[in-house]
Amino acid sequence: MYYKVAPSLLAADFTRLGSQVQEVREAGAEYIHLDVMDGAFVPSISFGMPVLKSLRKASDIVFDVHMMVEEPGRYVEDIKKSGADIITVHAEACTHLDRVVNQIKETGCRAGVALNPATPVSVLDCILDQLDMVLIMTVNPGFGGQKFIPYTLNKVRALRQTVKERGLKTDIQVDGGVSIANVREILEAGANIFVAGSAVFGTDPAARTREFVELFKEYEK
Ligand code: DX5
Ligand code: ZN
Repeated sequence: MYYKVAPSLLAADFTRLGSQVQEVREAGAEYIHLDVMDGAFVPSISFGMPVLKSLRKASDIVFDVHMMVEEPGRYVEDIKKSGADIITVHAEACTHLDRVVNQIKETGCRAGVALNPATPVSVLDCILDQLDMVLIMTVNPGFGGQKFIPYTLNKVRALRQTVKERGLKTDIQVDGGVSIANVREILEAGANIFVAGSAVFGTDPAARTREFVELFKEYEK
């Protein structure tokens, strides 16, 4: 099993996005998590295609795009063209989830589906085998800096169990309130991709990234 930290750009200093991405990349982050919010699926509005496109020129880091957008299928093609490598959509935001997942795969991107805290993992029973990643939201989406919701760990455990039973290689990502203080517990529950916004960009992003990378080495041995 591999473990990766995906620093969330939402918590970065927006006056110098390119150098912030470079900083975490050089410290060992292979992914950057990019939160696209539409002000409809979630209350807030963040950034979209033009920002992704500019950043794409700054780094070869994996673009892990988390679309908090109603009916995201409308934008999948544009998000890919803006440089995405992984596109994650919310099950709750798609009337036709199967169609959107196929749209993502047709672009050549890896496909992820996100679940809000109150959405059970069983909604993915039929489509799990088609997915590269499942994102278990560990806060209600929309804002950085919120507190981790403990019961979501049970969802991580249940999903890891199902993934194992089916012999799949699905990545399990967690997002929201993840820090160096709780990452072991979440990892031991079965997650392997860890989004961290304020925990990385709050103070000294390079040092914080290295802490995650070093901790993961213990488990990869
Ligand atoms: C929240 C976003 C997260 C956010 C995480 O809706 O999806 O990616 O940036 O921020 P932290 O790690 O500060 O909770
Ligand atoms: Zn996110």
